[in-house]
Amino acid sequence: MKNIVLEKFAEVYGDCQGAEVFFAPGRVNLIGEHTDYNGGHVFPCALTIGTYGVARKRADRKLRFYSMNFEKLGVIESSLDDLIPGAAAGWTNYPKGVMWAFEERGMKLPCGMDLLLNGTIPNGSGLSSSASVEVLTGAILREFFGFDVSNQDLALIGQYAENNFNKVNCGIMDQFAIAMGKKNHAIFLDTSDLSFEYAPIALEGAKIVIACSNKKRGLGDSKYNERRSECETALAQLQKEVDIKSLGDLDEEAFQKYQTAITSDVCRRRARHAVYENQRTIRAVAALKDGDIAEFGRLMNASHVSLRDDYEVTGVELDTLVEEAWKIDGVIGSRMTGAGFGGCTVSIVRDEAIDRFIQRVGEAYRDEIGYGADFYVVEIGDGPRVLS
Ligand code: GLA
Repeated sequence: MKNIVLEKFAEVYGDCQGAEVFFAPGRVNLIGEHTDYNGGHVFPCALTIGTYGVARKRADRKLRFYSMNFEKLGVIESSLDDLIPGAAAGWTNYPKGVMWAFEERGMKLPCGMDLLLNGTIPNGSGLSSSASVEVLTGAILREFFGFDVSNQDLALIGQYAENNFNKVNCGIMDQFAIAMGKKNHAIFLDTSDLSFEYAPIALEGAKIVIACSNKKRGLGDSKYNERRSECETALAQLQKEVDIKSLGDLDEEAFQKYQTAITSDVCRRRARHAVYENQRTIRAVAALKDGDIAEFGRLMNASHVSLRDDYEVTGVELDTLVEEAWKIDGVIGSRMTGAGFGGCTVSIVRDEAIDRFIQRVGEAYRDEIGYGADFYVVEIGDGPRVLS
């Protein structure tokens, strides 16, 4: 891939002298969904698929962007003097947002650059192609200009850019999973204080299989923000009864005790998901440590049910993929992953069942939905790095 992107860089920008190659992964979340903005736990991992980037410093303040995933757009020109939050949409807002966020933090960028990207994550699939581009950009700026920022800082800067430049109110999970990724490990992150631990994922005789629904993005972002505010309403009402900072401070028992403080049924269900999902995540990681993969799988399934019934972020596409997966012998667990409303499911599937899984779930999905799903058997990889 390194040679492919370098050759393309030379084709697009004339030559590739002085250019460096970088990589940042995508991520999949194994369990702990819609908990990261509720002070709960998440359990994502970085993937070996992600975003390759070639970058070269310029002598002036110009920025030139080219994506091999959007070749029709050609070279997009901008400038360091044109980093304006909330401006027109488009993929360049992700690298630009991170450049803006560095400057906001006092790290002034001395010159512009030419950038070429090639993502091996399916676009808009919920495997965090945008967070991957953000962390990649941060890694490039750190390398080029010697800024003293840790990988965790890259995650926080990426999230800050996404929230304030792109105006998407996401939590920290995606950027953290990508910036802190570690081969063959998932990250058990407590989003209330960013304490975390790496948990080895040694799935003997099984693999992680991602099914991409290919559902076109709809109102995903606005629904996402709506769920956040429903949780905030529930929290504010609970705080009148009990001294908590976030929904993640409650366990199931405490939630049962105080839930009547939440006046709307909808907000109560949203909060119930956030509380129960957090507890499920803690239990799932404990089960994994005990070598009880069957229990881990059951908790993944329960996570999906809660996201479907209480949080209402699944939809017929993700439900079909998951419910068909559950029917197959050798599927240890299956659930939607990421924000929902389309995107992907994640399943743990025994090696001998993988072909059957892809065939049966694929067929049933096409019959029900009218178009196909894509399947990826993935591996857990490392965080961002310089490849040259
Ligand atoms: C998106 C957001 C994350 C997280 C998930 C849901 O991926 O970017 O911060 O909230 O949805 O778990």
